[in-house]
Amino acid sequence: MSEPRPGRILISEAELRARIAEIGQAIARDYAGESPILVGVLQGAFLFMADLIRAVAIDLTTDFIGVSSYSSAAKSSGQVRLLSDLSMPIEGRQVVIVEDIVDTGLTLSYLKRNLEARHPKRLRTCVLVDKIERRQVEIELDYVGFTIPNVFVVGYGFDYGGLYRNLPYIAELEGG
Ligand code: IMP
Repeated sequence: MSEPRPGRILISEAELRARIAEIGQAIARDYAGESPILVGVLQGAFLFMADLIRAVAIDLTTDFIGVSSYSSAAKSSGQVRLLSDLSMPIEGRQVVIVEDIVDTGLTLSYLKRNLEARHPKRLRTCVLVDKIERRQVEIELDYVGFTIPNVFVVGYGFDYGGLYRNLPYIAELEGG
């Protein structure tokens, strides 16, 4: 059996650029004058975060939170663990969680609960890719880039066994 490899491109560089520009404009419109904190979820969301904030033309602050993601296997363990915390208090602030993908929804619902407990003024979610078929817990998403079918994707921050985050597009993992 051969190792799985990136295959068919699901979302191209141009599609990513265009959609992220639209989301950035929406966030800028919704948060004008509010100086939101955009919280990127490590590691997967770091590329999305970097491109997104450059598309949000208002004053904003960034921070990061690290949670355990899947191990080398392309499936969920169902366990979420905080690996690194925010560097600043968020009480009374407008906060947007910036996540790469929502699959079962367990990671984002854990994060929402964790951050809500710190009493932000309002907490919203911004997700690049929604794999809605796989949802196990109901979760409200405020900004969504793309909805995809139940396939494992790599590239643009998404990894398989630590590899392929650096691809500039999102591809389906094939083979194996
Ligand atoms: P959830 O908790 O099941 O919603 O999973 C969220 C996390 O699983 C994401 O932050 C990713 O790290 C990982 N993940 C889910 N699907 C994929 C995929 O297709 N490719 C790479 N990582 C994925």
